[in-house]
Amino acid sequence: MDKRSEFSSKIGFVLAAAGSAVGLGNIWRFPYLAAKYGGGLFLVIYLIFVLTLGFTIMTAELAIGRKAKLSPMGAYRALDKRFSFVGVIASLVAFLILPYYSVIGGWVIKYFLVFVSGGGVATTGADYFSSYIAKPIEPIIWQAIFVLATTFVVIRGVKDGIEKASKILMPILIVLSVFLSIYSIMQPGAMAGVWYFLYPDLANFSFQAVLAAMGQMFYSLSLAMGIMVTYGSYLSKKDDLETSVKQIELFDAGIAILAGFMIIPAVFAFSGGDPTALNKGPGLMFVTLPKVFETMGFGNVMGGVFFLLVLFAALTSSISLMEAVVATVCDQFKWERKKGVLIVTVLAILIGIPSSLGQGVWSEVLIFGFNFLDFFDFITNSVLMPVGAFFTCILVGHVLETTIITDEVKLSSPFKREKLFIVMVKYIAPLCIVAILISSILEAMG
Ligand code: PHE
Repeated sequence: MDKRSEFSSKIGFVLAAAGSAVGLGNIWRFPYLAAKYGGGLFLVIYLIFVLTLGFTIMTAELAIGRKAKLSPMGAYRALDKRFSFVGVIASLVAFLILPYYSVIGGWVIKYFLVFVSGGGVATTGADYFSSYIAKPIEPIIWQAIFVLATTFVVIRGVKDGIEKASKILMPILIVLSVFLSIYSIMQPGAMAGVWYFLYPDLANFSFQAVLAAMGQMFYSLSLAMGIMVTYGSYLSKKDDLETSVKQIELFDAGIAILAGFMIIPAVFAFSGGDPTALNKGPGLMFVTLPKVFETMGFGNVMGGVFFLLVLFAALTSSISLMEAVVATVCDQFKWERKKGVLIVTVLAILIGIPSSLGQGVWSEVLIFGFNFLDFFDFITNSVLMPVGAFFTCILVGHVLETTIITDEVKLSSPFKREKLFIVMVKYIAPLCIVAILISSILEAMG
C-alpha cells in the first residue's frame, strides 16, 4: 500500500475533525435537548461531560488511530486481535449512519433551495414538512445529491478533499452562526430565551437530563463510530494531540452554544416564552423555525442563511462518515480510494432509500416499532456506539498497558491531563457508558 495520507497541518486536522463533530447534532438536537431538560442546567452538565468523558474517549480514539496508522478495523486488530470486533462495530456504525444522515441532509438542501428562491413562506403551511418527506421520489433525489456532494469531496482524498473543504466550510459556518445568533437575540422578547438557556436552575435537575447530556456528547463529538480513529490515523506524529482535542471540543461546544442562542431566544420570542415550543424533535428545525423566520423579517434571507449553515455542518459530518467507511474498505480489501468511494456511494444511496420511503409510502413497515430511519438511528446511537465505546475503554484501560496510549499522546507534547485520562478511561467512562446503554434500551422497550 502506498504511504498513508496525512493532514498537511494541525489546523487542517482540527478543522476537519471539528467539521465532523459539528453537525445536525449541534444545530438541531442540542438546542431542543437543552430546552427540554431545563436550559442552563443541561448546558452545564453537557460541558462537564465534554471536558471529562468526551476528552478521554476522543483522546483514546485519536491515539489509537495515530498509533496504528490504520482505519478502525485494522487499528483495533493491531492493538489486540481479540478486539478486532470493536473496529468492525465502529465501521459498521459509520456505514449505517451515512445513508439516513443523508436523507436528512437531502431535506436540508430542499429547504435551502425553497428559501433562497424566495418561497420560504410555503414551508410554514400546515403539514408542508410531513407531506414533503412522505413523497416517494423527490426526497430520494435530494438524498442522492447530498451523498454525491459528499463523494465529490471524499474522492479527492485527505489533503485535497477533506482538509480543503473543511478549511473553506468551517470558517463560513462560524460567521453565519454568529450572525444568526445576534439577529435572533435582538428579536423583541428574545431575552427571556437567553436567560432560560443560560441560567442553571437546580430545580430542573433529573437523572434523565444527565443521561441525555451524555448521549448527546457522544453523538456530537462523533465518538465511537470509527471517525476519530480514522482521522487520527492521518494525524502526523509531530502534531500536538491533546491540544487538538481541546480545540475540537471548543469548536463543537461553541457551535452548539451559538445554535442555542440562534434558536432558543427566537422560538421563545415567537411562542411567547413557551419552552415546549422547542420540544418538537425534527419538527423544530423544519416546522417551527421556518415560521419563526417568516415572522422575523427578511424571512427568506434568514431561512436561506440558516439552512445553508445546516447544510455545511451536515456535509462536513457526512464527509467524515464516508471517509471512515472508505478507509476501512480500502485498508481491508486493498482497494484504490476511487473504487472504495464509488462503491460506498452507491451503497449509501441505496440503503438510504428505505429510510426515506419510511416517512411516507412505507411508514407502515416497522422494525421493533421504529420506522427505518429511527431504527437505524436507534441501533447505531443507542446500541452499537455505547458497546464500541465500552470496549474501547476496556481495551485501553485494562487489557493494554495504558502507557501504550499515553505514550502515543506524549510523542508530540507533555500529556497535561494524563491522570484525569487514566481514571476516566479505567473506571468512570465504562460505568457511564453502561448507564447510557441500559437507559436507552429501557427507553426503547417503553
Ligand atoms: N457529530 C455530528 C453531529 O453533531 C453527528 C455525526 C454523527 C457525525 C455521526 C458523523 C457521524 O451532528
